Amino acid sequence: MKGKILVTGGAGYIGSHTAVELQNAGYEVVIIDNLSNSNAGVIDGIEKITGIRPVFVEMDVQDKEALRKVFEENKGIKGIINFAASKAVGESVQKPLLYYRNNLVTLLNLMDLMPEYGVEALVFSSSCTVYGQPDVLPVDEQAPIKPALSPYGNTKQICEEIIKDAVYSGVPYKSIILRYFNPVGAHPSAEIGELPLGVPQNLLPYVTQTAMGIRQELSVYGDDYDTPDGSCIRDYINIVDLAKAHVIAVNRMIAGQSKDNVEVFNLGTGRGVSVLELINTFEKATGVKVKYKIVGRREGDIEKVWANPAHANKELGWIAEESLEDTLASAWKWQQKLRERGIM
Ligand code: NAD
Ligand code: WQD
Repeated sequence: MKGKILVTGGAGYIGSHTAVELQNAGYEVVIIDNLSNSNAGVIDGIEKITGIRPVFVEMDVQDKEALRKVFEENKGIKGIINFAASKAVGESVQKPLLYYRNNLVTLLNLMDLMPEYGVEALVFSSSCTVYGQPDVLPVDEQAPIKPALSPYGNTKQICEEIIKDAVYSGVPYKSIILRYFNPVGAHPSAEIGELPLGVPQNLLPYVTQTAMGIRQELSVYGDDYDTPDGSCIRDYINIVDLAKAHVIAVNRMIAGQSKDNVEVFNLGTGRGVSVLELINTFEKATGVKVKYKIVGRREGDIEKVWANPAHANKELGWIAEESLEDTLASAWKWQQKLRERGIM
């Protein structure tokens, strides 16, 4: 065993896939989740894939005393990957205080306790949302941070600043900030995947639910953008590829290989894909038609963004490997599994 890693929000979409990759790499995983956007069945999925059941504590990371108890009962935690956060952009506009409280207090509590318990490494989930509409594409880590378009986006910017200020003040741990582009797909086993509550706000879950007949029709938000086919462009990154980057980040900090006390990496493929291209590729990869109509633009949407992942490629030795076709097929397999299980 390589040591214990605390994964907050580990029952969620990215956290569960990362827990699998950590266990595959020989780490002992302790998951904390309050199940506000996930369910405990995910822990079974992780166990089915890896043959190992991670420690799971159902609790709120905002509860500092409960958090302290987790450190007391799981001595020797070497690193933390903090996925616990609220992530719905639209909801954050309606309930800004909930978002600021949850996304900031969870991070502050963890950072408060890390020195006391000798935790060496912190990985933080940030987002390409910090770049807004970049002036230069593909966007690299040196690009300016743009004014946030939502309270959610602002929490990511503030959390990045909190980490930088604290680490440069001389705390005894290192941090890696990972800026995800658009994570999509599911584990190839279809034992875990993305399970949005209610009507999906993100593109791919809406696509798979439409293909399944759960939703009548997908609305494509705008075909009059300054892009080759007029629809918006994103960088869709496979979830297992993304999860693997977290293991590399943890390894790097624990092995003392960081080049700075805080490092920032883009996690994307480097390839921009339009909404219409994604629908086409999904249809080709699965043989299933997706009914869609073009509607007006969605307020606040970025026109086009994709990553320059060269820094992660070079420094982490990480590269997005899965094709978009296989990734979309994995999302469809997961959607079919949900139907088989009578979940959706
Ligand atoms: P998710 O909602 O599936 O996972 C987050 C998990 O954290 C959920 O299981 C939720 O129940 C839990 N949680 C939330 N608040 C908590 C709290 N106070 N205490 C304990 N558990 C709590 O989301 P995800 O897509 O897996 O995202 C993980 C992280 O990555 C988040 O920080 C998110 O902001 C960030 N991120 C996500 C995306 C994306 O498109 N999915 C993109 C960029 C960044
Ligand atoms: C992708 C594209 C839509 C739904 C959001 C957050 C961002 C980040 C990732 C966390 C866009 C179009 C979508 C639909 C559509 N999360 N679309 N019909 O907008 O890149 O970003 O998730 O940090 O902060 O804002 O992702 O999946 O919502 O949209 O046409 O029903 O699909 O307009 O062009 P987005 P998305």
